Amino acid sequence: MPAGSLPPVAARIFALLKRSIGAQGARNELRWMQEALKKSHATLSGSADIESMLHRRVRGEPLQYILGTQPFGPLNLLTRPPVLIPRPETEDWTIRLSERLLSWRRQPASLLDLCTGSGCIPILLCHLLPGGSLHATGVDLSDAAIQLARDNAALCGIAVPPVLPEQYGKVKRNTFLPLLGNIRAPGFVAACGLRPPYDVVTSNPPYITKEDYDNLSPSVKDWEDPRALIGDPAAGGEMEMREDARGLTFYHTIADLLASSTPTLLKSDGLVALEVGEGQASAVAEIMERKAHMKNIEIWKDPWDKERVVVGQK
Ligand SMILES: C[S@@+](CC[C@H](N)C(=O)[O-])C[C@H]1O[C@@H](n2cnc3c(N)ncnc32)[C@H](O)[C@@H]1O
Repeated sequence: MPAGSLPPVAARIFALLKRSIGAQGARNELRWMQEALKKSHATLSGSADIESMLHRRVRGEPLQYILGTQPFGPLNLLTRPPVLIPRPETEDWTIRLSERLLSWRRQPASLLDLCTGSGCIPILLCHLLPGGSLHATGVDLSDAAIQLARDNAALCGIAVPPVLPEQYGKVKRNTFLPLLGNIRAPGFVAACGLRPPYDVVTSNPPYITKEDYDNLSPSVKDWEDPRALIGDPAAGGEMEMREDARGLTFYHTIADLLASSTPTLLKSDGLVALEVGEGQASAVAEIMERKAHMKNIEIWKDPWDKERVVVGQK
């Protein structure tokens, strides 16, 4: 239905949306909402009619939560508040990593994704790599994230297995197992029942500094889980934010996990890929080198020419 034939109440809300995001943006969003309504009510969260969708958007809810999905590579992943909406930067480096793993001599490879959220990174890798070549595990401390990661794996036809490392060679499909766990808790590897060492460790951890968090737009701050964003939460997990840590707390945690030999998380020559915030790449590269003894460190840029990923090898 074109904007001109909207029912009167929806037309009034649409006019408000035009005022807030511009006429062209509002027309595009209206079209995507109408397409989402046509395609499936199953993926839409909340009440699903055009009037309520427009109303939610005018109130500042991110479009992806209203549509219920977000494209990620060739996939269309489910999105539900407050789980972080997968970002295009993450999509870009995940595709690049899949190309690196295609020529990886260790197959099948095992992968651990720390702070997995919607499961977007391991699910896209499982989708892009040949069947039976990747067995991924994801960990997140949010129940909502783990449920969404499971739903996304099912939607994308990725098996969620209880597959043991000794069975990997016999399984003909790629697998992804999302697990609830706090990577900052002492003994988290054992508490989660992880089976290290892994060939690859990936993570897009929370990395926003207190200052940047305070300045985030309401469409992020009011909707996405602060635990997915704040880089320096207090040690107990409560949301007091330290001001001195430059958003790097999770990289220190990951480096400590990689440096530990009880247990050894990453195999010798194993690969680490960590997404970083703007201006953090060289500090994270230094942490990985000094604390986790990683070598062959590379910094990958995103499509907007920002240093976005630190890649290293054990
Ligand atoms: C920036 S989001 C990334 C989500 C997903 N990997 C992505 O790229 O869209 C960070 C995730 O870390 C999770 N998280 C925060 N603190 C954590 C902790 N201590 N242990 C495990 N996961 C944590 C959050 O729940 C959130 O899902």
